[in-house]
Amino acid sequence: MSDTIVIGGYAAQDLGRKIARHLRSEYASLVVDHFPDGEFRIRYPKKVDGKTVILVESLRNPNDKIVEVIFAAYTAKDLGAKKVFLVAPYMPYLRQDKRFHPGECVSNAILGKMFHVFDFILTVDPHLHRVKSLRGLFRTRVKHISANRLIADYIKKNLENPVIIGPDEESYQWAKTVAKYINSHAIILKKKRYNSRSVRIKIKEDVDFKNSSVVLVDDIISSGHTMMETVKEAKKHGAKKIYCMCVHAILADNADKKLKKLGIKGLVATNSVPSPYSRIDLSGTLAEELKKVL
Ligand code: R5P
Repeated sequence: MSDTIVIGGYAAQDLGRKIARHLRSEYASLVVDHFPDGEFRIRYPKKVDGKTVILVESLRNPNDKIVEVIFAAYTAKDLGAKKVFLVAPYMPYLRQDKRFHPGECVSNAILGKMFHVFDFILTVDPHLHRVKSLRGLFRTRVKHISANRLIADYIKKNLENPVIIGPDEESYQWAKTVAKYINSHAIILKKKRYNSRSVRIKIKEDVDFKNSSVVLVDDIISSGHTMMETVKEAKKHGAKKIYCMCVHAILADNADKKLKKLGIKGLVATNSVPSPYSRIDLSGTLAEELKKVL
């Protein structure tokens, strides 16, 4: 595609290159330097005038990354880009979807306003709970795809006798769909969250996981407490082989190390957020979606 250029943001160069290959499009990495005071100095190393710029970035560490992509988008337009698309597989700030405490910011709605500079936004498995659609939040064209099929394929290929567990009611949309793809059913647990680092989870069903590969499936592993409490519960029910799978491996507070300490057999995620656990590649699916709008 000669009138398209894929630009890999600082944290998504590998994903950006792969998407460009699928699209047979030009690729360049965004040049991101810092001024001494920490401000970004952003530069396009190739011409973008007259082109559709597909900016690919992983928005983990959102406070920096949001500034990076907004500056990059305005710069592309300033340089004469025809259109600017954002491919951000992980969309942050969506979980705060209501004022949980008086005076709090409802971040999902504000993010939607901040991103109006983009002509199209593509993301993966956004955390939609009380707000059911991104369309109500973003003022621009927006589409999301799911990694569920890819997660299910990974399980089919690599794990024997899998049992799928969704750690809480919000994980239902991932755990249930993944289970359906592998012709199984999902056990959805109940979670009580006390604060961002404290949750309680109970398995009420009378189950025995001794002979199964227990696969915990969720959209996000952030502090890891949701997964950790579920791992402990699964062990109480005889689980010997436990795998944690997610779309977005945020892995704050060394969550991966803590999960490994609990004896899990594996941690698997997509490359929405690059990590040593990014075993599931989203580039092909993202490129297919982009082809529909180019
Ligand atoms: C929330 O409902 C999400 O689906 C995840 O369960 C949650 O964000 C995980 O967070 P943490 O890893 O901090 O427990």
